[in-house]
Amino acid sequence: MFHKKSIEQLLFEAGQSGEGNLKRSLSSWNLVALGIGAIIGAGLFSLTGIAAAENAGPAVTISFVLAAVACAFAGLCYAEFASMIPVAGSAYTYSYATMGEFMAWIIGWDLVLEYALGAATVSVSWSRYLLELLHKYNIHLPHELIVSPWETVKLGDGTIIDGGVINLPAIFIVSLLSLVLIRGTKESATMNNLLVILKVAVVLIFIALGWGHINEANYTPYIPENVGPGQFGWSGISRGAAVVFFAFIGFDAVSTAAQEAKNPQKGMPIGILGSLIVCTILYVLFAHVMTGLVNYKDFAGDAKPAATAFAVTGYGFLQDALIIAILAGYTSVILVMLMGQSRVFYTMSKDGLLPKFFSKVHPKFSTPFKTNLFFMVFVSLFAGFVPVSDLGHMVSIGTLLAFVLVCIGVLVMRKSLPDAVRPFRTPLVPFVPIMGIVVCVYLMASLPGESWIRLVIWMALGVAIYFGYGRRHSKVRSLNEAEKLAEK
Ligand code: ALA
Repeated sequence: MFHKKSIEQLLFEAGQSGEGNLKRSLSSWNLVALGIGAIIGAGLFSLTGIAAAENAGPAVTISFVLAAVACAFAGLCYAEFASMIPVAGSAYTYSYATMGEFMAWIIGWDLVLEYALGAATVSVSWSRYLLELLHKYNIHLPHELIVSPWETVKLGDGTIIDGGVINLPAIFIVSLLSLVLIRGTKESATMNNLLVILKVAVVLIFIALGWGHINEANYTPYIPENVGPGQFGWSGISRGAAVVFFAFIGFDAVSTAAQEAKNPQKGMPIGILGSLIVCTILYVLFAHVMTGLVNYKDFAGDAKPAATAFAVTGYGFLQDALIIAILAGYTSVILVMLMGQSRVFYTMSKDGLLPKFFSKVHPKFSTPFKTNLFFMVFVSLFAGFVPVSDLGHMVSIGTLLAFVLVCIGVLVMRKSLPDAVRPFRTPLVPFVPIMGIVVCVYLMASLPGESWIRLVIWMALGVAIYFGYGRRHSKVRSLNEAEKLAEK
């Protein structure tokens, strides 16, 4: 269970697969853009309203700051690993090197919650914004086919859809983007930069035009009185933070580009922390304007609150453009999530912890197409049938767990390999990793009990698969054992 991959082994494998030859071409600005491209999405445009209505009220702004603090601590730890072990697989790979095979498996299994369910969450939100747009143009799809069974949806004109059968638009976008990934269409830096400019423009326009229409009365009370666990008051702000934490997920994607950074020592912290700082400022202002335009209570059950709030400004023609830009912006987030997922499973399968099926590469497109197809179905099942807030909670708790493990990893690595070359060092160790652990665990504790039960079930399933399959097929284990035998 404690077999480890040595850093030399990791770097050697990276070199072998050609990844060692990646060009160091990304400037710090490119890295910040990469981060923002993966970060701004459903968290901001959907969950802000939900967290305001259900948990924090207008104080959702404070929730954003709290979530940002958790991410900053974890981000500093990610940066150390990213510059030290710049190979694919992200947190899974880091833990293979620091805490051994079992923890690596746990984290890889856990990352499914971040990436696969993250993609599902964003696709449900995508479907809501699409619905709003179609509805405005009097294109009405049968309710049964656009809403999942346990979800109530409120449309802009007040129409309420109380549960359907399946969310087909969400399945459509997941399938489309999975197929794009199989074709190996790489997001070019230019394409990503364009999407980032578009997304940031949407946020800035929303803030600038919305500011003048804020109704101060909506801010009273700023922190509504607590009415139950996680419902308003300080406990609501904390749960709100755990919910909108989703909005920051993606900055860890910057770490996967460590190998392509021109100067990882400088670029990694700038990319990770820079994108976090930019997004935090935008998020707080955005949430402030959103809850000022419409009373937080009115966002209940509304998965496209940005459109609802913007309607107050009266710039009707801009609203459509805004929705289209949001739809386009979401695609980059879903792509990065689906791609991250397939990379992690590909790496795990290469290591023997998962069947070979997952690392089978397409003869023509050179992509792990079977993994992509598998996750197309897996993610579609969640996108089609599970409500957005349940999905969001699962993603938040899973990712927070991954962050905790990365923070622990830095502490372990400093002890076990004190002299290894670290192009970027997490400052103030052990303070920063310990604070990262404390704040992330605190946010996990703020999530509803059901999320914990689901997390435990998911992880138990993972442990069973590890002992039933991975442990017996592990390549690192057989390699390490063969080496020991040879020594004897
Ligand atoms: N942070 C990404 C989003 O909010 C996952 O969509």
